[in-house]
Amino acid sequence: MSDFKSIFSTPLEVEAAAPGRVNLLGEHTDYNDGFVLPTAIPQQTIVQLGYSADQAFHFYSHELKEQVDWQPSGTTPAEFARYLVGCIRSLEETGISVPPLNVFVASDVPIGSGLSSSAALEVAMLRGLRSLLNLKLNDVQIAQLGQQAEIHYAGVQCGIMDQMASSLADPVHMLFLDTRSLDRQILDLPENSEILVIDSGIPRTLAGSGYNQRRAECEAAAKQLGVKALRDISDPATVESLPEPLRRRARHVVTENNRVLEAKQGVSADRFGELMNASHASLRDDYEVSVPGLDQLVAILQQTPGVFGARLTGAGFGGACVALVQPGQAETIAHQTLEKYQQQGFQGKILVPESDRSIR
Ligand code: GLA
Repeated sequence: MSDFKSIFSTPLEVEAAAPGRVNLLGEHTDYNDGFVLPTAIPQQTIVQLGYSADQAFHFYSHELKEQVDWQPSGTTPAEFARYLVGCIRSLEETGISVPPLNVFVASDVPIGSGLSSSAALEVAMLRGLRSLLNLKLNDVQIAQLGQQAEIHYAGVQCGIMDQMASSLADPVHMLFLDTRSLDRQILDLPENSEILVIDSGIPRTLAGSGYNQRRAECEAAAKQLGVKALRDISDPATVESLPEPLRRRARHVVTENNRVLEAKQGVSADRFGELMNASHASLRDDYEVSVPGLDQLVAILQQTPGVFGARLTGAGFGGACVALVQPGQAETIAHQTLEKYQQQGFQGKILVPESDRSIR
C-alpha cells in the first residue's frame, strides 16, 4: 500500500484518523434543531500531513490514485481535495494561518452510501491540523469547522450530525445529540443486539436537490406554525393544519424526534427495532426520501427472523440501510437478504460488519 513516504519526499509530521457514521434513528431532524442517534462505523479515514517543499499544497488520495496540487490563491479544486481545502479555509476564517502542506489520504469508509465519508475526511484533516499546528480546538469545534467546510466548499446545506458523530462517537456506543444545544450523551446500544449495514447499490443521484428542497419545506412549515424550528413541536396533532406537503414533512420530523427521545430512555432491542421500522415508514410516506429499491431491501430485512428492525439511513434517495439484529446473526442475515434482494434484480453489498479491512 502507498503511504505518505512513498508519495512525498518531505518528512511525515503527523497522522490522524476519523470514522464514518451510521445513523440509527433521527433522520432529517438535525437541520430542524432536533435529536439524532448515530454511532461510528469501524471504517475510517486516515490523513498524513507534512510540510510542502514549495508554496503549493499537494493532496494525494490513495483510493483515487490521484494527486491534486493547489495554490492558496487559486480556486477550490474538485473531488476529494475540495473537502481538504474547505477545512483549511474554514480554519483560516477563524484567524489561523495554515502553511503549505503535503497531505496523504487513505480511507475505507464507503463513498456515496450515506455513511459520511466526507465528514470522516473533514474530521481527520482537522484533527491532523490540530496536532500539527498545536491548535486549541475541542472535538465540538472540530465538528463545527468540518460542517462549515461542507456547507461553504462542498455546497451541501447539511446539519451538524455527521461531523459530530465522526468527531465524538465510537463504534460500540450510540451518540445521543441535541443538535440545538449540542448537549450529548454516550449511550449503550440496545442490549443483545448487533448492527448490520447493507448498501442498496442505488446511487444517491437526487440527494443534493431533494435534500435542499426538504430543508426549505421544513423551514416553511416552522414559519407557518410560528416556531423557530420544528424541534419546538412535540405533539404531531399540531401540524395537521398545514397544507400538503408541509403537513407530512413536519409530521415526519415531529414523530422522528419523539422516536429518538423514546429510544434515548433505553428501550429493548425489540422496541428499538419497532422505532426503526416506524422511522422507515415515515421517511418513505411522509418525508418521501426513499426509493423502491431501498423499500424492497428494508422489507426483506424486516421479514427476516433475527431482525429487530430496519430502515434507510442517511439522507436517502439511495445509499444504505441499517438493521438491528440478534448478536452473532449479522453475517448470516446479510447473506440471506442479499440473495433475495438479488432475485428482485438488485445488487447490494454488506458494509458492516466488515469483511475486508484494507487500510489497517
Ligand atoms: C445528511 C446530512 C446530515 C443529515 C442527514 C439526514 O447525512 O449531512 O446533516 O441531515 O443527511 O438525517
